[in-house]
Amino acid sequence: MRAIQRLFLWVSVCLAVLGLKPALAAPADDNWWRSAVIYEVYPRSFGDANGDGIGDLNGITEHLDYLKDLGVDAIWITPFYPSPQVDFGYDISDYRGIDPQFGTMADFDRLEAAAKERGIRIICDLVLNHSSDKHPWFVESRSSRTNPKADWYIWHDGKPGGTPPNSPPNNWQSIFGHSAWQYEKARDQYYYHAFYKEQPDLNWRDDRVKNAMFDVVRFWMNKGVSGFRLDAITSMFEDVALKDESYLAGMNAYGERNIARLYTDNLPEVHNILRQLRKVTNEKAGTVLIGETYLPNVGELAKMYGRNRDELQLPMDTQLGLSNKLSVAGFRGKLQDAETKINGNVPLFVFSNHDNPRSINRYGDGKHEGEIARLLATLLLTPRDAALIYYGEEIGMTNRDPKSKDEVKDPIGRSGWPKEKGRDGERTPMQWNGDTNAGFSVSKQPWLPVAPNYRTVNVSSESRDPNSLLNYYKKLIRLRKVNQQFKKGDFITVDNSNEQVLSYLRKTSDGKAVLVSMNFTASPQTVKLDLTTEGIKGEHSKLILASYPNASGSAELKDLALPPYGSYVGEVVP
Ligand code: NOJ
Repeated sequence: MRAIQRLFLWVSVCLAVLGLKPALAAPADDNWWRSAVIYEVYPRSFGDANGDGIGDLNGITEHLDYLKDLGVDAIWITPFYPSPQVDFGYDISDYRGIDPQFGTMADFDRLEAAAKERGIRIICDLVLNHSSDKHPWFVESRSSRTNPKADWYIWHDGKPGGTPPNSPPNNWQSIFGHSAWQYEKARDQYYYHAFYKEQPDLNWRDDRVKNAMFDVVRFWMNKGVSGFRLDAITSMFEDVALKDESYLAGMNAYGERNIARLYTDNLPEVHNILRQLRKVTNEKAGTVLIGETYLPNVGELAKMYGRNRDELQLPMDTQLGLSNKLSVAGFRGKLQDAETKINGNVPLFVFSNHDNPRSINRYGDGKHEGEIARLLATLLLTPRDAALIYYGEEIGMTNRDPKSKDEVKDPIGRSGWPKEKGRDGERTPMQWNGDTNAGFSVSKQPWLPVAPNYRTVNVSSESRDPNSLLNYYKKLIRLRKVNQQFKKGDFITVDNSNEQVLSYLRKTSDGKAVLVSMNFTASPQTVKLDLTTEGIKGEHSKLILASYPNASGSAELKDLALPPYGSYVGEVVP
């Protein structure tokens, strides 16, 4: 126990003896994020309080009791700031406001206070790489080559001798297809955009941009938020030499040759900014920085924490949950990487988010979706990690992709149709109950159609079923909070003499261990475990939780049977 906690306890005891309630608030845990369960809310699709078909902040507030009951520590809310909504909020025109379709600042304050009352922290999405083209900074910047904000974005002349608007400075491509350069007549120059042309990239080599953004960070910290999820953080810098990228094999969904991103992605300068940003967030203890970090390998992921743990606390580990293949060797390797190759930092595992098809669509086999969803939940919530749950993952929501190009809302789904159907499928309304619009909205037409499985896959029916996926998530989250091995234990993979099953231990320094075993196949499997090599005395396992019915209360470690895709959690005992 830390000195401050001892002091608090002592004061509390004295006051209690005197019959008084302690006036001091409990000391905040600045490292709360280390084992946190963070829940991603896509506000357009979570709860629609005003009935216009689009979710809003009040809709989140209305469902906070559900989130508390689920046991989440924090919610990351994707952008709710004023925005033309070309990229559904990731094109921000005012970093300090609330888009009227999501509510007002008073609604935000109410949400923040109500969440705090329930012990839930708020994490904002921070889009540093680019703004909307309607942001006053860009409106000014594009107006001439000499205005005060002329250098706030990435401007360049076209190729010498070329004819505008078709002679961009080089062959760089936007992540969303086509040239990453857009011509601006008023300047007779091109601006760079890593995403849509309505999302011009800010120039992070200009200190005024940096300072303006750091003030935005302070603004939201003062409002009481506990952290930020940094959008597109590896895209913040572009090489100043403007060299052409080389082409790779194959074509993208937009009909162009695939291209490398050596000069626009993950440049070393990013780390310098992250260190400065971390100093800013350190001004308020307990503020966490989460990164959107799609990286090629664990070595690059390790760098995101900073050499002196002075960059991000939680860069997303997309290596594990987005591997898209149920392979024991694959998952064991990735889990061990996270354990041994990120310098003892905490991995943030992610299986689903608003940019990728839902996990069950990627890992399901068409027959065992319920079992596989429980296996994924076990993989997410039982290692030593911080865990990200995407809204609806806990009830088994699946993608409902657009059926035709006319239906598509996400612009990349229209420009890339049919190869790229866009991200609407994973952004459909939260399925609260079996009523109209799954209880998401009373409007005639929600902004995206509800997935057809809402009559059975919904919060209300799963809450009533003790064996539902939702209740399995709740039990796992609770275990993380109450079981000492899950709270504090080391993570150790163990050999179980069966390559179809992944087993690991969570072991505390007192020698106590909990075993987690998962069958990755559609057939029953048996494992044999000898834990003496791990210095653990124990031949049996006492059931704590199983993903399947009728698991026996006690099992022999030399003969532990698992049904198809079954997950088992048990305490190792003599
Ligand atoms: C990543 C976000 O998650 C995605 O939704 C968005 O389109 C791009 N960054 C651009 O901001």
